[in-house]
Amino acid sequence: MTDDPKYQQLHHLRAQSRQGGGEERIEAQHKRGRMTARERIDLLLDKGSFREMDAFVIHRTTDFNLDQQKFLGDSVVTGWGTINGRLVYIFSQDFTVFGGSLGEVHSEKVCKIMDMALKNGAPVIGLNDSGGARIQEGVVSLGGYADIFLRNTLCSGAIPQISVIMGPCAGGAVYSPGLTDFVIMVRKSSYMFITGPEVVKAVTHEEVSFEELGGADVHSQISGVCHLAADSEPDALYLIRLLLSYIPQNNMEDPPFTLSEDDPLRMEEALNHIIPADTNKPYNIKDIIHLVVDDRQFLEIQENYAANIVIGFARLGGHSVGIVANQPAVLAGVLDIKASEKAARFVRFCDAFNIPIITFEDVPGFLPGTAQEHGGIIRCGAKLVYAYCEATVPKITVVTRKSYGGAYIVMNSKHIRSDLNLAWPSAEIAVMGPDAAVNIIFRKELAQAEDPEQRKAELLAEYTEKFANPYVAAGRGYIDDVIEPRETRPRLINALEMLANKRDSNPPKKHGCMPL
Ligand code: HXC
Repeated sequence: MTDDPKYQQLHHLRAQSRQGGGEERIEAQHKRGRMTARERIDLLLDKGSFREMDAFVIHRTTDFNLDQQKFLGDSVVTGWGTINGRLVYIFSQDFTVFGGSLGEVHSEKVCKIMDMALKNGAPVIGLNDSGGARIQEGVVSLGGYADIFLRNTLCSGAIPQISVIMGPCAGGAVYSPGLTDFVIMVRKSSYMFITGPEVVKAVTHEEVSFEELGGADVHSQISGVCHLAADSEPDALYLIRLLLSYIPQNNMEDPPFTLSEDDPLRMEEALNHIIPADTNKPYNIKDIIHLVVDDRQFLEIQENYAANIVIGFARLGGHSVGIVANQPAVLAGVLDIKASEKAARFVRFCDAFNIPIITFEDVPGFLPGTAQEHGGIIRCGAKLVYAYCEATVPKITVVTRKSYGGAYIVMNSKHIRSDLNLAWPSAEIAVMGPDAAVNIIFRKELAQAEDPEQRKAELLAEYTEKFANPYVAAGRGYIDDVIEPRETRPRLINALEMLANKRDSNPPKKHGCMPL
């Protein structure tokens, strides 16, 4: 270190900035079981890659004696670095400075990073830990949030945006993570809500804890706001690294290609025996996914929300793919409001970022009932139709078993621009299942039959023979090929390579009017 006072001043200021709100508050943060903003950045990014910006920024507020309390860098640490050698921009809210609250300069710092990320085509990662709008700055901090929301929206579909909630995230502040592509939460240590327990009590007389109102479990099981939940901060940070490994830097790039040792031609005999003989018996679609993809690696998204549909990322022959799969083990894999919205959002993300979509289909139809109808299954199911219809990335479907009714169309049928539709011999593709069909079309005949049960069994056998198979659809070219289940992996990899240069587009327009 040189003795030159100019350099000494620089080093002194840098050290001061790195101290955030000071030793005591850092200790308090650790006592809460949380890391500091900088510790999180250090753990997340490749070692030594972080370059900080705006470490000397200070707030300009004088109200409430705030001019007596200034912290270099204010309440957020911003900059860029790399994850597995790939550029990312990052902001990490510093709870040790004014509780990470967002005022004018905090917002300016975040916006600067977002603008750079958009211009340079790299993901933005936000580590959220904040008391919300800086109360002393009043409406200026609300404007600051608005500036961020605008950028979240403009970045959407152009660069990936990932939010991790690592502490409080309350009030309107939740809408920034809410606008991003993925929300990761830390169990028992983070929460998100529009109004906190005290306001809830005053307005609705409900008594509820922070965790019950907006903890990680609530948002990953009930609201669907959280895409991935982790047990600890390091685990949450690891999930970012994992997630990014499947995703391109921006919408102009292809996703990363990661070759594995797993043989692309691997036949998987177990698949030939996975579908139960009784077509009404469940099986776990995730077993099929694991057997097909590279190295059995599947990063499931929203695992505990609308579990009747499974979504997530995997690789096939090194190509990153998004998987959407009906789950016969939950509600027989039926499509309902939540499942439709969950899958639709995922399909749109994959389409925006050039990630091919593989659909595994075993769906008895849409869930009947007043709760669904009154809840808007028409509007919500339409989202899934819309998302699949609009998507121009390579789209491949494998029908493992049931493909009935409207759900046949929705789950990436040939008619809505799917590129390749394969079916297993166990596939049943028809307007409805044999039982329901026979009850409707032979109602009169069954009513008049001498032995209705015997007659029904005959009619069922006839219907099943005629319609509950893949060959009627294949006969019309709605299914491109019927394959043995064990061939699925090589056939999918071959298809992805065949579709590698796919070009398709939608009519020119400002944007569609998706049924939101
Ligand atoms: C200014 C804040 C602050 C805020 C916390 N602090 N929140 N300063 N503005 N919003 C400061 C505290 O004064 C304290 O300063 C330090 O941060 C740590 O706070 P503690 O209360 O000591 O910590 P803890 O007990 O862990 O409680 C954390 C908390 C609580 C639950 C977040 O601080 C809290 O309830 N804060 C207010 C939350 C809130 O109502 N925000 C506005 C939401 S409305 P010292 O100097 O003692 O370290 C909103 C609208 C956004 O955000 C709209 C966008 C469109």
